[in-house]
Amino acid sequence: MSLPRPSLASLRVEYGRAGLAEGDLHSDPLLQYEQWLHEAVHAPVEDANAVTLATVSSDGQPHARTVLVKAIEARGVQFFTNQNSHKGQELAAHPQAALLSFWPALQRQVRLEGWVEPLTSAENDAYFAERPRLSQIGAWASPQSQPIADRQWLEQQFSLLLAQFGEDPVPRPTHWGGYVLKPQRIEFWQGRPSRLHDRLVFQRVGDQWQVQRLAP
Ligand SMILES: Cc1cc2nc3c(=O)[nH]c(=O)nc-3n(C[C@H](O)[C@H](O)[C@H](O)COP(=O)(O)O)c2cc1C
Repeated sequence: MSLPRPSLASLRVEYGRAGLAEGDLHSDPLLQYEQWLHEAVHAPVEDANAVTLATVSSDGQPHARTVLVKAIEARGVQFFTNQNSHKGQELAAHPQAALLSFWPALQRQVRLEGWVEPLTSAENDAYFAERPRLSQIGAWASPQSQPIADRQWLEQQFSLLLAQFGEDPVPRPTHWGGYVLKPQRIEFWQGRPSRLHDRLVFQRVGDQWQVQRLAP
């Protein structure tokens, strides 16, 4: 059964849940981002910590994909991946990136831009140890971003590794780890009626944050 074809041009959401004034925001935009993320989790928004990560390859081509935010700390926002993946190679060559959160139920978007640093081996080990065992084995099984013959190859790899590790603890593959995006710019967006949305941008200047309102 085929679904009726939607008219995309006429899809329209009128926003009006809330406004966003300068005084509503925490003076530290990372704490504000953490608060909005917590509000999204409790909304509840499914996969509230899923963000779009944009990186750039050496030919200047931007690449975007979803990753999960695993921590927000004083330096910035952490996410984890296979560091041999396309994104890992792009970040090694060009350690600047953007993260985007969009929570439709809250009519909110947050954009973060800045420099990216790999986490330390100790930080990677600590998070890897918290992952479910089958996800740990999955990290060994998948040569992320590389072409593979078929689905069966992947499942065979997984079964082989499952047998190989037996009951032993699964160590972290050295190519699996995290990054912290240290934002230079964070923009908070709240949808408002008539497309007169609120946009407040924090820009890092020295060790201070400067706030500006932008036209929607
Ligand atoms: C909801 C969701 C969450 C994801 N979380 C992660 C993640 O935390 N880390 C990761 O490496 N890939 C994650 N992925 C897969 C990535 O989007 C992507 O397919 C993969 O990392 C390969 O990207 P690359 O080839 O650009 O490196 C997630 C995908 C979705 C849809």
